[in-house]
Amino acid sequence: MKALSIPDVLAEVAVLVKPHFGKGRTADYIPQLATVPGTKFGMAVRTVDGGEHVIGDADEGFSVQSITKVFALGLALNRLGDETWTRVGKEPSGTPFNHLSLLEAEQGVPRNPFINAGALAVTDILMDVTKDPAALVRDFAGFLCDERLEIDPTVAASELANAWQNRAIASLMRGKGTLHHDPESVVAAYCRQCALTMSCRQLARAFLPLAAGGFSPVAQETVFPERLTRRLNALLLTCGIYDSVGNFAYRVGLPSKSGVGGGVVSVIPGKAVVAVWSPELDRFGTSVVGTAALEAFSQITNCSVL
Ligand code: DON
Repeated sequence: MKALSIPDVLAEVAVLVKPHFGKGRTADYIPQLATVPGTKFGMAVRTVDGGEHVIGDADEGFSVQSITKVFALGLALNRLGDETWTRVGKEPSGTPFNHLSLLEAEQGVPRNPFINAGALAVTDILMDVTKDPAALVRDFAGFLCDERLEIDPTVAASELANAWQNRAIASLMRGKGTLHHDPESVVAAYCRQCALTMSCRQLARAFLPLAAGGFSPVAQETVFPERLTRRLNALLLTCGIYDSVGNFAYRVGLPSKSGVGGGVVSVIPGKAVVAVWSPELDRFGTSVVGTAALEAFSQITNCSVL
């Protein structure tokens, strides 16, 4: 990164993203998410050397949704290691995050851990070690940002009441043997996990091990082996933004994860984490303003890894 002050960069980014409001739509297939105002915008930067800078609604909690898939995968890989990869792949899917078309052709093994099928497989894996994988993920994320976090029961119920596509995915995977537990309980656990509430500031802190070789400067503990950290970043770079990951890499150039609550987190290896929130999504389920903000941040600071 150039020696520009981060607060100045954030102020500039906040101006540059203004024309992008109103171009996307808040998620409505989880009805509770449609109640969040599209005008929200927050951004937080946490550096590996302890700097923390925020702008806008960076301290307001929102539904982090698929961003939790990174914590869940980290937990599964820490506990099961490479055995995880017998039940989920490492390739971009080229299909929307909630599709099941590839699953049948590929013997029920999801392409990667970030599409819904892959995340359901990871939840199933975590169910081998705990009755409540969502609480495990919540507590791990809370440990990483040194705060007590909550799962929003209204968001979880709102998703579960409409989770027909995820139920179809889970049933197919149960039939093929990828899932070992009852598909309905896997879907319920997954919906609870996705309903975790976090702010941009908390996300930037919690993702810091991915920028710091596996060490959490917040928790003062190594949480991932360094090699696993590189591998998680590789998965984020190639699969973290689903079927628009190529366009996102072209524009932003950082390992990143999106969620349909409008959050996007980007890792600048060795340096920092940037978390942004703005609820209006593009047709791929990624925040429109969030992507524009990260693109501007990456260009101004020249921090792309590519
Ligand atoms: O399963 C779902 O559809 C949601 N709980 C999570 C999807 C999501 O966040 C996709 N990311 N942009």
